[in-house]
Amino acid sequence: MGIENRVAIVTGSASGIGKQTARRLAEKGAKVVINDIQAEKVEATVAELKAGGFAATGQVANIADKAAVDAMVENTVNELGSLDILVNNAGMERAGALRKLTEADWDITVNVNLKGAFLCSQAAHNHMVPNKHGRIINIVSRAWLGGAGQAPYTSAKAGLVGLSRVMALELGGKGVTSNCIAPGLIHTPLWDELPEKNKNFLLSKQPTGQLGNIDDIAEAVLFLADDESSYFTGQVLYVCGGRSLYSG
Ligand SMILES: NC(=O)c1ccc[n+]([C@@H]2O[C@H](COP(=O)([O-])OP(=O)(O)OC[C@H]3O[C@@H](n4cnc5c(N)ncnc54)[C@H](O)[C@@H]3O)[C@@H](O)[C@H]2O)c1
Repeated sequence: MGIENRVAIVTGSASGIGKQTARRLAEKGAKVVINDIQAEKVEATVAELKAGGFAATGQVANIADKAAVDAMVENTVNELGSLDILVNNAGMERAGALRKLTEADWDITVNVNLKGAFLCSQAAHNHMVPNKHGRIINIVSRAWLGGAGQAPYTSAKAGLVGLSRVMALELGGKGVTSNCIAPGLIHTPLWDELPEKNKNFLLSKQPTGQLGNIDDIAEAVLFLADDESSYFTGQVLYVCGGRSLYSG
């Protein structure tokens, strides 16, 4: 069956990587649920997809809030009949040197990137296990290996790699796979705002000398989401132009 008619929630999909991932899943015939905290952008993304003839619904929910996550998953199953694919994509970062970071910086970064993925996965697997099928795909970052000035983000993404490995172990015999995709530098509006010298420095650390784009990540999600990818679990798939080969 591939991906066709599968039901997919993509968290944080009103923007960037998540939005393109939802579009590519929809193009492959999945019924996609657009989740985000930005209500207007959710509405606009659903409208864009529907205008293209794709099956899409919206769920405005903060993934760090258990009640909101449980309601999102219940609504999805009630409206669309199942939940087959969960892409834990929503993320954000508060960066800074260790001595400058606040407790609030730590809490929000860890709550969204790590606790949010835990809550969504916990709610989703309750529906996947009885169906003996599920694909959980966690968008981490090459920075989980370590990034100076990125203590909360690196910690949260490293935690998510750990969570993904645990889920692969616990759910492997139940038809549910769990994997991570680790993007490197990806072309987003933030990149365009960087000074030229910063761009050159970052690109000089890329073995391919290249900047990735949102489609590179979306295509990796399609691979892991496919029914045929059942033998691939507990892994981290780097999509980073080889940047993971260097430390720091
Ligand atoms: N862009 C990159 O270069 C890059 C590199 C490595 C990893 N990543 C990871 O990829 C993912 C997507 O990044 P992006 O660049 O597309 O970011 P983005 O900011 O364009 O999109 C993230 C979306 O998540 C939503 N979001 C934030 N907090 C939320 C919450 N609590 N509940 C629900 N939605 C929430 C935001 O509203 C936003 O629409 C993130 O997990 C990020 O850490 C991105």
